[in-house]
Amino acid sequence: MKGITAETNICMVIGDPVRHSLSPAMHNAGYRALGIEDAFIYVACRVTPAALSDFTAGVRAMGIRGVSCGIPHKREIIKYLDGIDPVAQKIGAVNTVVNDQGTLTGFNTDWLGIRTPLLARTDLSGKRVALLGAGGAARAALHALCESGALVTIFNRTPQKAIQLSTEFGCRTMPWEERGAVRDMDIIVNTTSVGLGAQSGETPLEAQHIRRHHIVFDAVYGPTDTRLITEARRRNATVITGLEMLLHQGTAQFERYTGHPAPVAAMEKALRKGRK
Ligand code: ATR
Repeated sequence: MKGITAETNICMVIGDPVRHSLSPAMHNAGYRALGIEDAFIYVACRVTPAALSDFTAGVRAMGIRGVSCGIPHKREIIKYLDGIDPVAQKIGAVNTVVNDQGTLTGFNTDWLGIRTPLLARTDLSGKRVALLGAGGAARAALHALCESGALVTIFNRTPQKAIQLSTEFGCRTMPWEERGAVRDMDIIVNTTSVGLGAQSGETPLEAQHIRRHHIVFDAVYGPTDTRLITEARRRNATVITGLEMLLHQGTAQFERYTGHPAPVAAMEKALRKGRK
């Protein structure tokens, strides 16, 4: 064991705020599980929007290997990169930056955080999916779902945003007030911020609409299960929490930064421990 040396590669997550990020615990646990903790270290840095340009120059100057971008940098960072891959382009957001000898390329792994847990439970082709929300997270979900052949209906409080997305991704919309229609669908994916922060304790969907046959995926992640997840569980639906999304977007990042297959179980264990 050489420990941290001049050869150790640095990766990091940036956000504003970033203090509560579980990414350092998750990635460092992955390095340890593979025995590459001398070669890689992962830290967190609070970077304000005003400092993003200087930060990116610093990434080049210091040869930082990988940067995970959290809120509010996912769109803004694009203009400082040398290129972005076509999927990140389609989604319109970058959550992963890889530095290859000074060339910074942006990727998006958020959509994998949605697709991987779903595919572990069901085939998506031809499945009827209710997508709640039409913001940034909804765009990642739409890419994951449409690419896998799911039939998506978007419900959003502001209808214009839903219509715009439905045109772009080739799916349909229904009014927010008609969310009860999820009864006849297979999968419910929440990407609204209802259940998060100031809206914790609230739910984007009344429990009476949730059935045993549903898979309920809440992309919202918090210190405890959201009300949507708790109620879905009570109604014997299959649930997928935001923690699983965090895990699988993270394992995809890990592979891009290190070139090694991610040790999923070790990373999941670190996330669960960090959440407590
Ligand atoms: P993100 O990038 O995380 O997806 P966002 O772009 O701010 O965040 O999107 C938040 C989503 O949550 C939007 O779909 C928003 O609906 P509007 O388009 O009508 O704003 C939805 N949302 C937030 N609070 C809501 C609430 N109280 N009821 C219903 N939808 C809500």
